[in-house]
Amino acid sequence: MSDKTTDLIHHPYVPPEGFVAPQPGVYKASTVIFPSVAALRSREWKDRTGYTYGLHGTPTTYLLEERLCTLEGGAQCVLVPSGLAAIANVGLALLKSGDEVLIPANAYGPNRALAEGELKGWGITHQLYDPLDPQDLARRLGPRTKLVWLEAAGSVTLEFPDLREQLRICRAAGVLTALDNTWGAGLAFNPFDLGEGQGVDISAHALTKYPSGGGDVLMGSIITRDEALHIRLKLTHMRLGLGVGANDVETVLRSLPSLALRYRAHDRTARALARWCQTRPEFAQVLHPALPGSPGHEHWRALCGEEEGRAAGLFSVIFDARYRQPQVDAFCDALRLFKLGYSWGGPMSLVVPYELAGMRPAWPAHLARGSLVRFSAGLEAQEDLQADLAQALQAALA
Ligand SMILES: Cc1ncc(COP(=O)(O)O)c(C=O)c1O
Repeated sequence: MSDKTTDLIHHPYVPPEGFVAPQPGVYKASTVIFPSVAALRSREWKDRTGYTYGLHGTPTTYLLEERLCTLEGGAQCVLVPSGLAAIANVGLALLKSGDEVLIPANAYGPNRALAEGELKGWGITHQLYDPLDPQDLARRLGPRTKLVWLEAAGSVTLEFPDLREQLRICRAAGVLTALDNTWGAGLAFNPFDLGEGQGVDISAHALTKYPSGGGDVLMGSIITRDEALHIRLKLTHMRLGLGVGANDVETVLRSLPSLALRYRAHDRTARALARWCQTRPEFAQVLHPALPGSPGHEHWRALCGEEEGRAAGLFSVIFDARYRQPQVDAFCDALRLFKLGYSWGGPMSLVVPYELAGMRPAWPAHLARGSLVRFSAGLEAQEDLQADLAQALQAALA
């Protein structure tokens, strides 16, 4: 070949033989080259018998999928570009016009927003149920219910539901269950094997949080044990074109070996800080599933046990009602190590003030009235974070 461009495209390349290293190679592709038309016609992407197109899988994405199945105890995995995309992929695959989905009242807000927006527009209804009252869930199940979302612990207010009882109710009604397993991360409990014969049908996970661990990658996964259910999810994934970038997959693969160590460290720090907050007169309530008295604590303890590494690094406080929102905002602004920012699971501690009144149909009876602030404990020294909380309380509220 004489043309330089052609020569460069068809440059001889032999992948390294006999090269073994702890970290796998990164394979990038939109196009996958077939050796023949016969191979092109016969390869099937669905059952992983061959590579067909970058969107449907590469050695790099398959490897992450397998490791995530190991983490969560599942059999098949679909990777998507964010945790929210995982939630959307599940809904779009399993719901059609006339169906209904049930969502816990303390679900990750955008899950509910999807139901109120796109799903409603497509003729799919939803109901919110009380995550702490399984009978409320049972009452809301009907012939049109095709999917029940579960979250343990719930977002922002961190109530821990009786997952086994919720699953028993859904199974008896023959309704599919999908757990947002971001909080548990595959470490606090086993979503497909919760004991007493219970397990979820689908685990959706925002890998953006602990599996990435850096605050720099967006990705999600959808894990199942049932092959037919997986194919339904995968077909929707393929039709929507929800690919993930190989470099992002590489980052998550690199972070997975330290996941359990990091999760335990986040847990240790968050529990210590939450206990310290309980001693402070500024707070009317501290929310963390491992604190006795926190809503659903007994369900967390029964499912997860009490040891370190069985809870995420999140906790929330409700300020005493004598403090007005501007004072609480000033407290958040006065924090130096806790940075104002959404998301969680990275090395840097984060804080967000939430306006709960606009997030729930009614103020839940189990929550004190007051301004709520959620913390994500990072990997900084616990004493430094505690000192930061103390100085911000002093600066803003004294
Ligand atoms: C519980 C929960 N699920 C899902 C998501 C969505 O993840 P992502 O930010 O990757 O879309 C989040 C993000 O904050 C979350 O907290």
